[in-house]
Amino acid sequence: MVEQKTLLNVVEAAERRRSIRDYQPRPMPEEDLREILRVAGLAPSAWNIQPWRVTVVRDPELKAKLQQAAFGQKQVGSAPAVLVVWSDMKDALEHMDEFVHPGMPADRAEDMKATIRRVFGDMGAEAAEQWAQGQTYIFLGYLLLAISAFGYASSPMLGFDPVAVKALLGIPEHATVPALVAVGEAAEEGFPHHRHPLERFVKFV
Ligand SMILES: Cc1cc2nc3c(=O)[nH]c(=O)nc-3n(C[C@H](O)[C@H](O)[C@H](O)COP(=O)(O)O)c2cc1C
Repeated sequence: MVEQKTLLNVVEAAERRRSIRDYQPRPMPEEDLREILRVAGLAPSAWNIQPWRVTVVRDPELKAKLQQAAFGQKQVGSAPAVLVVWSDMKDALEHMDEFVHPGMPADRAEDMKATIRRVFGDMGAEAAEQWAQGQTYIFLGYLLLAISAFGYASSPMLGFDPVAVKALLGIPEHATVPALVAVGEAAEEGFPHHRHPLERFVKFV
């Protein structure tokens, strides 16, 4: 387990994180993965719906098949674990009692559930899954920072065939897969950050 004192703060974690595509072969302790995922799960979501789901792939044979589904990207084969981040709004809506805060008065909770049923009923199942994908990208941001804070490296990926990934891992067809994330100890430095200056994307009015 990574000791508390070695954790990076959020600024350090953001500065230190780079996409890493070559990893040390050492397996990652499961307790570190669990703690990283717990912290990522603190991400906020609208109505607290938390539609994100994660399949942790460590089995070498399965990882080799996942690499094929990711167009052979080398980080999938190189990393000791690949986190398949998916999103399932259907499952979330079927279990609304899981995400309604237990401290909420019963009448308010019923109102909130009725609103959610109406909003997503009007939206339609496919648009609701897309909406959930947006929420899951918030989780992804937290996940990448948490991995970095714990001293590990990562590589987020959109370069994969989602139909093949879902079939391989038994993820329901209606679900979306916002990203794969390779995770482990870095065996390369990655590229220095190249980012817009603040003036390019921020306007104070
Ligand atoms: C959602 C998402 C999908 C990405 N997909 C890929 C990918 O399929 N393959 C890859 O090599 N890098 C992928 N990247 C990495 C980006 O190219 C990288 O984050 C960006 O160039 C900035 O570099 P940095 O992560 O080292 O700071 C992806 C990044 C994000 C956030």
